Amino acid sequence: MGTRPTVKPELAAKPCPIGAPLVVTIVGLPCRGKSLAAHKVARHLNWRGHSAKVFNVESAATADTLREISLFFKESNNVAIIDGMHLTRQSRQLLATFCSEKVFHHLLIEFSCTDKCLRENIDDTVAFYHNLDQNVDWERRLRESNELHSALFEACSPLEGPLITVNNSEDARLHSITARGVLGAIQTAILGVLAIPVIRHRTFYLSRHGESDYNVLGRIGGDADLSPRGMKYAERLARQLGGPGSAPDCPKPKLIWTSELRRTIRTVQNIPGPRTAIKDLNEIDAGICEGLTYEEIQERFPQEFAWRDQDKFKYRYPHGESYLDLLQRVDSVVQALLANTDVLVVSHQAVLRCIMAYFKGTRPDDVPYINVPLHTLLIVRSYGYDFEVETVPLKVECVDTYRIQPKNCSTTRTTADALTTVPAHFDAPIAQPPPAMVASSQATTTIS
Ligand code: F6P
Repeated sequence: MGTRPTVKPELAAKPCPIGAPLVVTIVGLPCRGKSLAAHKVARHLNWRGHSAKVFNVESAATADTLREISLFFKESNNVAIIDGMHLTRQSRQLLATFCSEKVFHHLLIEFSCTDKCLRENIDDTVAFYHNLDQNVDWERRLRESNELHSALFEACSPLEGPLITVNNSEDARLHSITARGVLGAIQTAILGVLAIPVIRHRTFYLSRHGESDYNVLGRIGGDADLSPRGMKYAERLARQLGGPGSAPDCPKPKLIWTSELRRTIRTVQNIPGPRTAIKDLNEIDAGICEGLTYEEIQERFPQEFAWRDQDKFKYRYPHGESYLDLLQRVDSVVQALLANTDVLVVSHQAVLRCIMAYFKGTRPDDVPYINVPLHTLLIVRSYGYDFEVETVPLKVECVDTYRIQPKNCSTTRTTADALTTVPAHFDAPIAQPPPAMVASSQATTTIS
């Protein structure tokens, strides 16, 4: 009878629970687009409610890095991305051992890039350092550093752990990735982010539609047309972006994306360029509250109104959506946006809050309170792995639709307490109440 091989308990790999923290080890020679991708992954995960951080290391993680990561995970964060070269198998083994001992997931991401991409990355890096010190031949320095590091580089083997390899190119046809052993939702999300090429210099134009007839009345949702002031905004926006009356050197969007609703389509009608109406850019579905004013929601569904104020991010309108749902819905739009430049997106208050949250790095709970005013053009420019937002009010009068969270969010609050922060709007009962309404009502707020 043969004896069964015994494994010492301390050497047996402990199974890693699905929810265990994840350590991502970035691997690659200089100028392969590692940092840009590392920060893109962290931004995306944080936007989607995870808690990720990039740990910048000189060439490879050290014992200090591991201590910092352990502390980071103790504070309920869940993804550590180590941005360094990790060229030798030994440097990666240190991390693999750390993860297996602490029972963390470990993912390796190895970067290379096409010759053209490498050339552009080197040019960008040389320009950056040249601005700091003009007395150094940075081009030569980089070449020498590349030669030195290439000699040390041991490519990752799939046996080292779950592995994604990325060959960077700004050209989507040449950009490629492979994945081995990728596991679970977070790693799959990372795979999705890396599959889309990183375009270094990007500009996006974002705007809400012009003021609608419903905005004037303080009604939410629906498919109303533009008000006369909304039409004026559409003309002003067109003048800003290559339409009639614009300056020859003004920006001209290469792509125009709207929702499928009338008010966004009408807003871009005079702006030249190919346009697409995208369902995922439609406003939040307010379910049984579609077409009502905030006052009517308080009157008919006071509990729902209070619950929404208590947790606006997670609250889902009955038969409708929550901001959490919306974030999921616009994820693919944001990913598509990042693979392009010079795109104009004309959408709605809640949807644009979710999109702006990506660029601003807003935590989920604060997303429903981002201020995206009507009649304002937002210009988003990439700046390394960060984004800058320029706010350009186009100075066409309009109502304010921004309602801040009231102090009293309890379900037993008075109507006055529930309505304190409702923005002013004109009075008007709805001619034909939608069937979902359970009682008739009259709006009572007047414009101040
Ligand atoms: O008021 C305009 C509007 O776009 C509504 O259609 C939509 O329900 C609302 O804004 C979303 O904003 P909030 O989440 O603050 O109610």
